[in-house]
Amino acid sequence: MGILKDCINNKKTDGIPVWFMRQAGRYLPEFRDIRKKNPNFINLCLNPKLSKEITLQPLKRFKLDAAIIFSDILFIPYALGQTVEFEKNFGPKLGDLNYDEILNVEEKDIVAKLNPVYELIKETSKDVILSNKDLIGFVGATWTIFLYMLNKKSPKKYLNDNIYNQSEEDQLINKIIQTQKVHIRKQVESGASIIQVFDSWAGLIEEEKKNKYIYQPTKEIVEYGKSLNVEVICFPRNIKSYKEYCEIVKPSAINIDYDIDPKEIAENIEIPIQGGLDPKCLLLDKTEMLNKAKKYLEIFKNHKYIFNLGHGVVPETDPDNVKILVDFVKDFK
Ligand code: CP3
Repeated sequence: MGILKDCINNKKTDGIPVWFMRQAGRYLPEFRDIRKKNPNFINLCLNPKLSKEITLQPLKRFKLDAAIIFSDILFIPYALGQTVEFEKNFGPKLGDLNYDEILNVEEKDIVAKLNPVYELIKETSKDVILSNKDLIGFVGATWTIFLYMLNKKSPKKYLNDNIYNQSEEDQLINKIIQTQKVHIRKQVESGASIIQVFDSWAGLIEEEKKNKYIYQPTKEIVEYGKSLNVEVICFPRNIKSYKEYCEIVKPSAINIDYDIDPKEIAENIEIPIQGGLDPKCLLLDKTEMLNKAKKYLEIFKNHKYIFNLGHGVVPETDPDNVKILVDFVKDFK
């Protein structure tokens, strides 16, 4: 267990914890090498030997305080029997929803399908490179998973006129929640020390729907994670009110996006904060990048703060800039 956990638990840490969303990925040449030989992304994630290697690649280069497992939020629809494919320059493509089939999937089927993910976690958590560091497991939030399942591709816009009636929608939501719980429990049992909940499309919610589709299910997921003795970090990207979200959902820590004013967050939210910096800042020259990073470090100087970004590292990022940024955060006093 590392300083990320200490920071979230309000303990004094030697320096500011740092890790990045998508710290393993296409900006690293060693990732691209493996990816080239493994065109099927799902199969790559489900290969524990390779996904472990990918998970640890960024920790071999940079002084990061945590690894995040190399997997994807779309393994929930996959475990429920919806096909998931990734097409180059298109993103995820999901198959038709076979509603009856999905509702009949049992816990043992989910665990069997996702077993390679748990193997990956078991093997990775034992690696010496992670002694005194955290291994982050994750799930997509109920709302974001629901949108992908209905929309079958990235939901730039929520489809209001979906083909299901309300009671079917409710059953699907419940099924997603049950599956998320199984997936969280298995990740924790396998060695994940923290869980992050990605609600990438929280910004698309309509005001009158947010309680039912975001607050209540996420609150349930957070309570469940806490009952297993792990911290739960939530990232409701572009949500209108982070303050209201924290008050209702009660995550252990909150990741903010890059559109929200960090000063407003520092003034209004007491729980540990994570992230915020625009990933595009890593494409700037060194001085500009560090100035932008310094702004977040200064604003959260008197706050429990985990350095991270306001979304994932973009593929165009130069790994040298990641090194410069991590070293800067580690030396920041
Ligand atoms: O390093 C890490 O952060 C851990 C691994 C991880 C991936 N996806 C690997 C991945 C995590 C935590 C995710 C979460 C995820 N997946 C989210 C939530 C975070 C966010 O970005 O908003 C979402 C919405 C997805 C769904 C998803 N997976 C999309 C939209 C895409 C295609 C877009 C893209 O960036 O290519 C993926 C594919 C994906 N997941 C890749 C990676 C490294 C790229 C795969 C490739 O090599 O082509």
